Amino acid sequence: MKLDSVLISDAVDPACVQLLRENGIQVTHKTKMPLQELLEEIKKHDGLIVRSDTKVTRQVLDNAPNLKVIGRAGTGVDNIDLDAATEKGVVVMNTPGGNSISACEMTCALISSLARHVSPASSALKNGAWERKSYTGTELYGKTLAVLGLGRIGREVAIRMQAFGMKTIGFDPIISSQAAREFNVEKMELEQIWPLADYITVHTPLIPQTRNLINFDVLNKCKKGIYIVNVARGGIVDEEGLLKSLESGQCGGAALDVFTEEPPKSEGLLRLLAHPKVLATPHLGASTTEAQQRVAVEIAEQFVALTKGASLFGV
Ligand code: NAD
Ligand code: MLT
Repeated sequence: MKLDSVLISDAVDPACVQLLRENGIQVTHKTKMPLQELLEEIKKHDGLIVRSDTKVTRQVLDNAPNLKVIGRAGTGVDNIDLDAATEKGVVVMNTPGGNSISACEMTCALISSLARHVSPASSALKNGAWERKSYTGTELYGKTLAVLGLGRIGREVAIRMQAFGMKTIGFDPIISSQAAREFNVEKMELEQIWPLADYITVHTPLIPQTRNLINFDVLNKCKKGIYIVNVARGGIVDEEGLLKSLESGQCGGAALDVFTEEPPKSEGLLRLLAHPKVLATPHLGASTTEAQQRVAVEIAEQFVALTKGASLFGV
C-alpha cells in the first residue's frame, strides 16, 4: 500500500514521527484539534494515527476520502468506529501488548494502594493530619484476588500478585482451566467467584457481554468489604451500582483508572470520584515512558511495513 501523508492527532511519542519520516512518509502531528479542524485536516491524509483522545467516528470517516489506514498506538480500539471503517475499506491496526506491562504494573500499584489506604493517608498528612489509626490497612498475603479476563494484562497481574501471597482465581470464556493453571490461576464460573474474592480486577474489553459485568447485584453477592479495580475500560464496572454499594458499605473500596466519560463531568461520576473510598487516576494505565515509546515505534513499524507490502497485524 502506498502512503503519502499521515496525520497523528494525539500525543504519541516522537519516535513515531521520526520512524515514519525516515521511511519517506510525510507526517503532520497536531493534537487537541476541535472537531471542525479535524474534519478539515483529515481530508489531506491517507493515514491516521491516534491514541485514545481522538474519536474516529463515522462523521470523521465520512470526511476522509483519501484515508486508507488508521493506527491505534495502544490496545483498545473503542474510540474508532470499526463498522464504518470496514464499510469504507479503511484498515485499522493496533499495538496489542505494547503497553500490557505498564497497565499490569498500574493495576498492582492500585491493589496495594487500596489495601494500605495510601492515597487518603497521604492527602490527610499533606493537610496536616497525622492519622495513623484511621488508616490501618489489611495485608494482601493470604487474600483472594479474582482476575476477570486472563489475556495479556490479566495473567501478568495474577503472576505479580502471587508474589504477595495472594491466591488467584479467575474467569475467561476462552482460556481453559489447564491454560489458567499454567500461571497459577484457578479458573471458576463467575457465580463461584463472587463469594470467594477479596479483590476483583477486570481485564476484559468493553463488549456487550462485559458491560456492567460488576454491578450492584454482583457486589451484593461478594464478601462485605470487597475491593474493585478497573484499569481496563469504563463501563465494565457499573459506576452507579458501585457508588450505591460503596455508600452502603458493602464495597470496601474501588480503584478506577477508566470511566464511561473521560474526563468525567456528569454529576453521578463526580460523586463517585469524590467518595472517600475511591482511588481514581486519569487513564494512566499505559502512561509510562517505556510503553509510550514501544507503542509509538510499533505502530510506525506497522505503517512502514504496510508500505512495503507486509501482511497486516492487529485488529
Ligand atoms: P486481551 O485481549 O489480551 O485480554 C482480554 C481477555 O478478556 C481475553 O482473554 C478475553 O477472552 C477475555 N474476555 C472476553 N470476554 C470476557 C468475559 N465476558 N469475561 C471474562 N473475560 C472475558 O486484552 P488486554 O491487552 O489484556 O487488555 C485488557 C483491557 O485493558 C482492554 O480493555 C484494554 O483496552 C485495556 N487497557 C487499558 C489500559 C489503560 O491505560 N487503562 C492500557 C492497556 C489496555
Ligand atoms: C489502551 O487501550 O491501550 C489504553 O487505553 C491505553 C492508552 O492508550 O491510553
